[in-house]
Amino acid sequence: MTEPGKVSMEKIVSLCQRRGFIFPSSEIYGGLSSCWDYGPLGVELKRNIKDAWWRAVVQERDDIVGLDAGILMHPQTWAASGHLEGFSDPLVECKNCHLRWRVDDLKDKNCPACGGELTKPRLFNLMFKTFMGPVEEEANVVYLRPETAQGMFVNFQNVVNTTRKRIPFGITQIGKAFRNEITTGNFVFRSREFEQMEIEFFVKPGTDEEWFNYWLEERLNWYVNLGIKKEHLRLRQHAKDELAHYARVCYDIDYLFPMGWAELEGIANRGDFDLVQHTKYSGKSLDYFDDETKERFIPYIIEPSAGVDRSALAFLCDAYDEEPAEDEIRVLLHFHPSLAPIKVAVLPLSRREKLVEAAKQVYADLRQCWIVDYDDAQSIGRRYRRQDEIGTPFCITIDFQSLEDKQVTIRERDTMKQIRVPISELKAALAAKLSGEDLFVLPPGGQIWKE
Ligand code: GAP
Repeated sequence: MTEPGKVSMEKIVSLCQRRGFIFPSSEIYGGLSSCWDYGPLGVELKRNIKDAWWRAVVQERDDIVGLDAGILMHPQTWAASGHLEGFSDPLVECKNCHLRWRVDDLKDKNCPACGGELTKPRLFNLMFKTFMGPVEEEANVVYLRPETAQGMFVNFQNVVNTTRKRIPFGITQIGKAFRNEITTGNFVFRSREFEQMEIEFFVKPGTDEEWFNYWLEERLNWYVNLGIKKEHLRLRQHAKDELAHYARVCYDIDYLFPMGWAELEGIANRGDFDLVQHTKYSGKSLDYFDDETKERFIPYIIEPSAGVDRSALAFLCDAYDEEPAEDEIRVLLHFHPSLAPIKVAVLPLSRREKLVEAAKQVYADLRQCWIVDYDDAQSIGRRYRRQDEIGTPFCITIDFQSLEDKQVTIRERDTMKQIRVPISELKAALAAKLSGEDLFVLPPGGQIWKE
């Protein structure tokens, strides 16, 4: 068994590239620094993470609604939000090789690359700049959003007016964000293009502390319910001098990544900072009228802000395991079924025509419900290993006996236990197993086959 929290980043990177979870961006050109492409399995994993978020915060609640605002926003947004002024890192430049360095990353006074003399620190804004329309001039500058949050603040009044949600309520969105990060690395942990899942939860001032504590607990539980081990998560409060310019209080949910404890999600009490700023810059009132108490106020905002890529990395690291199996090592990903990229693999025992026909029928039927793989190459043992390594919870084996008795074998990834079930019961049995039912709860006509 892999010791908890001890899988190396090299092993995760190698598995991700070997099996098609994550590739370096534009790899045939040598890659693009700190940018990544998600392959066939990675895209499924990310979709499942985003679906789990949407399910937990929109589908299963009645106090949060979704939004999908544009990546490009009016440039005044970033003046109001404080990003134009405050979203920067102090950098020094080498007078010899012109590389730039973050001051807090430097161990001595000279350039770490060539030993050259360094300039005085200057602030370097982390937002990506581009131009709107055909003329590249200052008046046409727009930015790629560095967080999805602002789209939700500027649409606060639109959502209140069109949904008639009453406070306390939230808006959530999932989408790309871009930061011209200076210190990158650790695989997808810190990249320049990434995805965020954020909630802006609007509350009455005075109730903000209570809601902040509520969201800390909710968000921790979300990770635990999706399989992350409790001992690999911790809460860390930001010290006064590390708080973002908008935050009154902030906690990170840290995960024990291979390189150590690091931020997985931030939960901030943003107070009324954002709505006050956008009111000031837009001239449009963003206050709220409470029909019951007849009070008018500017809501406070509690913001859980998670990264899809960091979540994917955490789920991969936490799921990774190695077990001795016969004379080799069985590598497996213990993904929660709802996160597993492929839910079921259909494996005919041989390529004989009759068996293939029956297997393809099962495959076609199961694909109506889930992402299913079909694999008939090499020995059944090797095929099981291939599915274990990508975290497929169940394999279905179709053998010659299946042609006689119309039954197939379900084999479970984690325990390697097997049961026989009638093909007519297969879909219902898999649906129950994927939602957490024990493998040995048998459908009508099923039997324990191998332990
Ligand atoms: N709206 C608040 C906000 O953006 P943040 O702490 O800067 O707060 C929130 O970012 C989350 O976004 C982080 O916890 C992390 O999961 C993710 N994130 C931020 N920068 C990232 C980067 N460069 N690469 C990957 N994920 C990043």
